[in-house]
Amino acid sequence: MKTVFAVLALAASAFAQSIAIFSPTPGQSIIAGNGGEVVVQKPGSLTGSTDIGVAVLIQHCTQNPCEDVSQDLGTIFYAGAFTPTVQRGVADNVPFQQFFASVPQNFPKGPAVLSVPHSVLIGAGPFFFNEIVNVTINIA
Ligand SMILES: *[C@@H]1O[C@H](CO)[C@@H](O)[C@H](O)[C@H]1NC(C)=O
Repeated sequence: MKTVFAVLALAASAFAQSIAIFSPTPGQSIIAGNGGEVVVQKPGSLTGSTDIGVAVLIQHCTQNPCEDVSQDLGTIFYAGAFTPTVQRGVADNVPFQQFFASVPQNFPKGPAVLSVPHSVLIGAGPFFFNEIVNVTINIA
């Protein structure tokens, strides 16, 4: 019983540490050659956590809806520190960090999956948590 509660508590705090892609939004276009802004949010949480980092990758889809790309995440546009901060009036006042995906002119056009893998240390232990969040966009 104790174990069940502990696991549920860990799951709940892990969920509270999840990130979200604020921008781009589903279906939004990024122009190849211009690139696009990527805003990753970390909604407020009660448990302390230390972010290890995130990455931003984009994979062209060959199917509609997009195939699962979790084993084939595509081109890396960023990999490194994640240090979200709050800016009043921006991104609903939720801590966020902005990245730029410099999608090259020759990137395949059409549907694509933008993935953000995230690793974080949670709680006093701490314990290790990682996830991949994604959004399906369009490369134009
Ligand atoms: C997006 O993430 C979800 C949840 O992790 C996963 O089930 C889905 O396969 C991913 N989508 C793609 C296209 O990889």
